Amino acid sequence: DKAGHRHFMAKEIAEQPQVLGEALRFYLGEAGDRITLPGDGIDFTKLERLTLVACGTAYYACLTAKYWFEQIARMPVEVDVASEFRYREPPVTPGTMALFVSQSGETADTLAALRYCRDKAETVVSVVNVAESSIARESDLALPILAGTEIGVASTKAFSCQLTVLLLLAIEAGRQRGTLDADRLADLLSALRGLPSVIGRAIDDGATAEALSLQLAEAQDVLFLGRGLMYPLALEGALKMKEISYIHAEAYASGELKHGPIALIDKHVPVVVMAPRDALFDKTVSNMQEVMARGGQVLLISDHAGITAAQDGIWRSIEMPQVDPVLSPILYAIPAQLIAYHTAVAKGTDVDQPRNLAKSVTVE
Ligand code: M6R
Repeated sequence: DKAGHRHFMAKEIAEQPQVLGEALRFYLGEAGDRITLPGDGIDFTKLERLTLVACGTAYYACLTAKYWFEQIARMPVEVDVASEFRYREPPVTPGTMALFVSQSGETADTLAALRYCRDKAETVVSVVNVAESSIARESDLALPILAGTEIGVASTKAFSCQLTVLLLLAIEAGRQRGTLDADRLADLLSALRGLPSVIGRAIDDGATAEALSLQLAEAQDVLFLGRGLMYPLALEGALKMKEISYIHAEAYASGELKHGPIALIDKHVPVVVMAPRDALFDKTVSNMQEVMARGGQVLLISDHAGITAAQDGIWRSIEMPQVDPVLSPILYAIPAQLIAYHTAVAKGTDVDQPRNLAKSVTVE
């Protein structure tokens, strides 16, 4: 049942405020002032490092979580795609928490990577949507993301719920390890409580993404740029674009541009720049200016302050609500999803069942 939407993907994008609210209530309780993990929880003071493993969109959620765990909990983090991790036979030291992220909980490579870690890691934790899945059952602790059934092959609400649960884990790790003071903890939890309504506003303002879709649908190639927390999100935006619109899309860390990819830029290449006005904003703007100097058509996704500061010469902008910069990947996932969705609709592709793809990759 698409609940009046044209595609399951549109329905699942629209459901995000509600499912994120449910996930937050599960982990924060009604009062919303402390994080409670199910079961015996996790003792982060005993852990020395984290190894995060997943595929596709779930891998990009893990890449984002690396920034969070490093910054908030000051923990060393390694991230890998499951298909590489499992055959590399990496050393997994006893103080390691091995964390597997999977919507379906049945992805073959992720499950094999989990089994590889079982007798090596201190603890094996999973972040899953399907509670009765193999990955959930074979973990010491399975953390539900509570996104509800996701039918569209392109992951949307599962991604934002994965991010939310991973951020809660990083905050809890920071609290236990004493790297997060009480005021900052309270600020972050308060920002998280407000997130569903901010996400709702971003979805309601989706008309700009729709208005751009006819022009984006003409593109042969699209580049996505981001720095810091926006880099994994740029990767996710490019993946969404490829898988449902079949437009070639690549993402780069903004600072890598001049090490090669800038050679791709000409007036036919739309460049999506994701850059809230955070500590890295000015650096990204200077990369954006290098793109514009070569004729690239910049679509800037930023907040009011960012767009006001950097609108000269850009092709289009999408204005996002203001949030604590730590939460920005969850919010900026919305325009990434909407751009891909509307471009795919403009191209007339099979949005919910894109060619060559399966919802759950249960074979290698
Ligand atoms: O079920 P999983 O989260 O383990 O699936 C991982 C990937 O196959 C999945 O995220 C895939 O990349 C999506 N189609 C992305 O939209």
